[in-house]
Amino acid sequence: MATIAEIKEQGAIPRHVAIIMDGNGRWAQQRQLPRVAGHRAGVEAVRRVLECAGALGIKYLTLYAFSTENWKRPQAEVDALMRLLVEKLTEELPDLVVRGVHLRILGNMEDLPCDVQDALRTALAQTAHNSRLYVNIALNYGGRRELVDACQKLARQVQRGELEPGQIDEEHVERELYTASLPDPDLLIRPGGEYRVSNFLLWQIAYAELYMTPTLWPDFGEQDLIAAVAAFQKRDRRFGGLKGRS
Ligand code: IPE
Ligand code: IPE
Ligand code: MG
Repeated sequence: MATIAEIKEQGAIPRHVAIIMDGNGRWAQQRQLPRVAGHRAGVEAVRRVLECAGALGIKYLTLYAFSTENWKRPQAEVDALMRLLVEKLTEELPDLVVRGVHLRILGNMEDLPCDVQDALRTALAQTAHNSRLYVNIALNYGGRRELVDACQKLARQVQRGELEPGQIDEEHVERELYTASLPDPDLLIRPGGEYRVSNFLLWQIAYAELYMTPTLWPDFGEQDLIAAVAAFQKRDRRFGGLKGRS
């Protein structure tokens, strides 16, 4: 398996990597532990991946932490996830600041518990001036909800007479997405063995390279990220054109 230095030497590093952090529950189940133990172990994987992404020179990392559909889970699991988020974000914040991480939240923050919103606002404010690694956390995120929100914002602009329906193009839509001004993901990684996108970044992954692996998220580490990037480097991205020309 290649080292970080070798992989950087060997080809282009994806600018934006998005990850569906899946498999925490199964990881815990395999060990006869409660599901929340899997979520705790998942936080350790986040720490490893942040470090490795920085070393590889990945500029944008988007992590799917909680979907608009995850509210369907038992209240106790939802509560445990929210508590874990506040606890870990508060604990890790000084380190994130030192490492030059710029945090951004993708999703509707207003529906989250007040203490979660407070912890997020603090973290956003303290990392706002960093630019080494942009980390986007998709939280209460749904790709369809994001597109519906964008439609509503554009409809309001039309209603106010600021925009003609015929003027609406891809750039107008992109400007109203939660990801406004971010480049599209080049590589989408899904650990946990499922072959689906589960309502993640539906617009933005139009031309992302997909990498699925059976490794469960709490087991995911440097070697898995390197393997995903190595697979990415072997892909021929044509964007609908012809090989070798863009
Ligand atoms: C992903 O792990 C974490 C969240 C969706 C919050 P899961 O909790 O979905 O783990 P599995 O898929 O049940 O193993
Ligand atoms: C996707 O995982 C959402 C997150 C990782 C936050 P899920 O476990 O919710 O997805 P499904 O239910 O397997 O599609
Ligand atoms: Mg899952």
